Amino acid sequence: MAKQDPAKKRVAVLISGRGSNMAALIEAASARDYPAEIALVVSNRPDAFGLTRAREAGVATAVVDHKTFAEDRAAFERALDATLEAHRIDIVCLAGFMRLLTPWFVTRWNGRLLNIHPALLPQFKGLHTHRRALEAGVKRHGATVHFVATEMDSGPIIAQDWVAVRDDDTEETLAARVLELEHRIYPQALRLVAEGRENPLFAGGEKTPQ
Ligand code: GRF
Repeated sequence: MAKQDPAKKRVAVLISGRGSNMAALIEAASARDYPAEIALVVSNRPDAFGLTRAREAGVATAVVDHKTFAEDRAAFERALDATLEAHRIDIVCLAGFMRLLTPWFVTRWNGRLLNIHPALLPQFKGLHTHRRALEAGVKRHGATVHFVATEMDSGPIIAQDWVAVRDDDTEETLAARVLELEHRIYPQALRLVAEGRENPLFAGGEKTPQ
């Protein structure tokens, strides 16, 4: 097992799919001076490709399969929460985690629960953000890392970046450029949170002194 550094925040990344943002966080956290370690990757789908990537990187993995809980969302979240507690997790990063979380879970992890969304929030909440950005004809499109609030794709913004939309962009080309941004801003945002420099209680104007 990898040596643990007590000074580093213990982070769990929650995924449902390919896990490219998870991989970017693992890569960033491998730097000696990074203030967080990726201690656990959890998937709600046993077949998520990200689990393979995490194992290859030597990161502990867990599966909390929502299907085994049928429609009992509360039981699923209690199992998820128990897994996080068992691994002494400080901060949770959602990275393509395709389950809506209830107010119980969100409140429990308030200020320690981050998400990445592939749009410039508050624009284009929800799915198919790249297609909708092209349809809307916006000139700039991007990605946002934010603290999770009970309402979907909302909550204090930690980091955002954008790319110019090109006339010949397709959903795929735009998604690829935004994904590059995502891989850059998620590690930056996690660094801020892990260093205690981004406090949701002060979000919305006042920031903690730097
Ligand atoms: C990313 O676009 C992320 O913004 C969104 O879901 C996608 C996950 O991709 N929430 P990956 O699994 O990190 O590659």
